Amino acid sequence: MDKNFYITTPIYYPSAKPHMGHAYSSIIADFFARFKRIDGFNVIFLTGTDEHGLKIQRAAEEKKIDTLEFCDKISKTFRDLSETLNITNTDFIRTTENRHKLSVQNLWKELKKNDHIYLSKYSGWYSVSDEAFYNEDEIEEVDGKKQSISSKSQVEWMDEESYFFRLSKWEKPLLDYYKKNPDFICPSSRKNEVISFVKSGLKDLSVSRKSFSWGIQVPDNKDHIIYVWLDALTNYISALNYPNTDDPLFKKFWPASIHLIGKDILRFHAIYWPAFLLAAKIPLPKKIYGHGWILLGEQKMSKSKGNILDPIEIINEYGLDPLRYYLIKEVSFGNDGNISKDKLEDCINSDLANNFGNLCQRVTAFAVKNCNSKIPVEIDFQKDDLEILDKFKSNLDKIRIKIDNQDINFYTDFIINRLFETNKYFNDQEPWKKKDNLIRLNTIVYTTLEIIRKISYMLYPIIPQSSLKALKIFDIKENKIEFSTIGNHNYLKGNSNINNIDILFKKIEK
Ligand code: MSP
Repeated sequence: MDKNFYITTPIYYPSAKPHMGHAYSSIIADFFARFKRIDGFNVIFLTGTDEHGLKIQRAAEEKKIDTLEFCDKISKTFRDLSETLNITNTDFIRTTENRHKLSVQNLWKELKKNDHIYLSKYSGWYSVSDEAFYNEDEIEEVDGKKQSISSKSQVEWMDEESYFFRLSKWEKPLLDYYKKNPDFICPSSRKNEVISFVKSGLKDLSVSRKSFSWGIQVPDNKDHIIYVWLDALTNYISALNYPNTDDPLFKKFWPASIHLIGKDILRFHAIYWPAFLLAAKIPLPKKIYGHGWILLGEQKMSKSKGNILDPIEIINEYGLDPLRYYLIKEVSFGNDGNISKDKLEDCINSDLANNFGNLCQRVTAFAVKNCNSKIPVEIDFQKDDLEILDKFKSNLDKIRIKIDNQDINFYTDFIINRLFETNKYFNDQEPWKKKDNLIRLNTIVYTTLEIIRKISYMLYPIIPQSSLKALKIFDIKENKIEFSTIGNHNYLKGNSNINNIDILFKKIEK
């Protein structure tokens, strides 16, 4: 079986400092990367910064600093954010790197050589903020200014010589591809948007600009620079050493398992990118997943709206794992979600402190006192114990399938249900009343500890620091976490040590 997994986040524009929307894409990608890793996959996890284009050039001009210097500075804040968010990316690509320039220019040459690109003239609307072209029917006028109906960003008229990619030619092949590969665009609710856009007719796409200079030059014509989206999308193969398609990295990990992106950039990923790849005869990624937005009130956070929620502030106030937990569990994946401190505090108090933290604390303290700080040896599973343990074993494959379908809500609900069940089990079994029946007492403790281990494994992709803290009960280190062992009822070795642990989550006074 193919045990390689390649996941990407969008590469972020370093036109401003990172916000919660960026943190969201990275945290979700990290969740999948970590899960796959503990399930025995070789994982390549790519993130980075998208540094070319007029938007970046203008942002640097505004600050009156050299464009590359500007990019260096902000790209570093994105790199630092990955660390702060405990993201396990294996690579960080910058589009200003040579490996990427080489890759983009090569792709261009490939397309040009086979007549997929031609020189002409572009007249039309362009949004610098989105780095996107819009048709007349996608524009509206508000207060005398033209803007994109979908993104509300301002558009300007562009009239210049430009190279074009023959996108129109790929209308039918794309529609056929979507049909043959129904999971290519996810969630399915967004697929229809893409299909109807393609069906409405694809026009050839302008893929070079002449009026500014911050970008990768078109090979053989230095008056033009390559359109920033053709440049940016190529990052996904640059990181695998394209154009060297014989490179072991490329052979092993391309096509990507999943490009995780926000819904606003679906058109680029589900139409342009596959068309470029089809034209260059490069296999298509297996899946494009367009997640929803994190909203503050009703609005998407963005620099232009000035309503940015800083992930660092939230982390300083509440800690990283609560934020990760909130974004992964509270936002129904695929849809938009709100973030509010009030709901975050509820999450910390009920799910993390009461449900998980308290279970770990209380069972460990009981075992330290009543089982001499050792995993019980003599145990005899009864129906009640097996019933609760079996839920993990019998759902092992289902959980894997749900993860492959990006059903994060199934995953988090499964954990929450098991936590409720286990707390109830421990209360109902009343081990403190079983001091004259040590086998029973031992079995209840063993069962509960086994479940704490299993749940901590499942929580590892969501709240890695806290999961590892909980696993200190058993001295289990990160490299020992294996998802498949949650199906094992007897993983914990009798007589090994049980360690008391510090409080996992402090409750918040409200
Ligand atoms: N540079 C392009 C992507 C190129 S990928 C080849 C870009 N960059 S971005 O910095 O503007 O956005 C990066 C990602 O952050 C996008 O997937 C976008 O959807 C996501 N988010 C930006 N704001 C967001 C929210 N408020 N909520 C969730 N994600 C949103 O687009």
